[in-house]
Amino acid sequence: MKVLNTYSDFNLWRKGLSEQAISKGVGFVPTMGALHLGHASLLTKSLNENSVTVLSIYVNPTQFNNLEDLKKYPITLAEDLELAKNLGVDVVFVPTYEEIYPDNYKFKVIENDFSLSLCGANRPGHFNGVLTVVMKLLNIIQPQRAYFGEKDFQQLMLIKSMVQAFFMQVEIVACPTMREKNGLARSSRNTRLSEVDKEKAAIIYKAIVSNQPIEKIRKCIEDEGFSVEYLVDFLGRRYIAVDVHGVRLIDNVNITKK
Ligand code: PAF
Repeated sequence: MKVLNTYSDFNLWRKGLSEQAISKGVGFVPTMGALHLGHASLLTKSLNENSVTVLSIYVNPTQFNNLEDLKKYPITLAEDLELAKNLGVDVVFVPTYEEIYPDNYKFKVIENDFSLSLCGANRPGHFNGVLTVVMKLLNIIQPQRAYFGEKDFQQLMLIKSMVQAFFMQVEIVACPTMREKNGLARSSRNTRLSEVDKEKAAIIYKAIVSNQPIEKIRKCIEDEGFSVEYLVDFLGRRYIAVDVHGVRLIDNVNITKK
């Protein structure tokens, strides 16, 4: 497994791939590291569907509107590389800010509709940062397929719309949310929860899949001592963000199956 840190090194490797090596395609899984079973499932899908799989690990500062949140983001590079190697990933791209933002973020991708609601309403500029870094990474990696988890459903929808709007030649593959045994959506942020809160936070999923009215769902979660940032039903999906004693967790479920 190769670990590459610069655009030029990645480009050299990408250009050196033979037609045969990329016959089934190049698959790409962008991440911010602190890999867990959710990421492993994206990587496994990519490994099954492509000849070559690229993983990127980059904690993108432009998508954090809060410096404290950025500082607290878990970094576990050695473990991440070990997991990637064990799964059979071909290349891990681990760039610096200078590699990704040679323009110092003078250019950005801005969406003026869905990105302003839900997570975007509470984290101004968040999705500009996400869409910009994803476009840059897709331009660097040039994959046929890129894999994103449904846990970040708003992000997934926005990336799909961006790819369509800019005629980008990549298939965005949606992968189901992976959950802990108690139903809690797997997230890198879960490592910041106490064992007690990890158990208690299972209420988030249990409540949003229940058939209760939305106000009752909110109350169930607040009764655990957590604060609900938003809880919204929108286009057949229920979205939620919860502050679990300083750790911001999001989840969503399909509500059309009921
Ligand atoms: O979902 C994430 O981990 C990030 O938002 C992404 C897509 C890697 C962009 O930084």
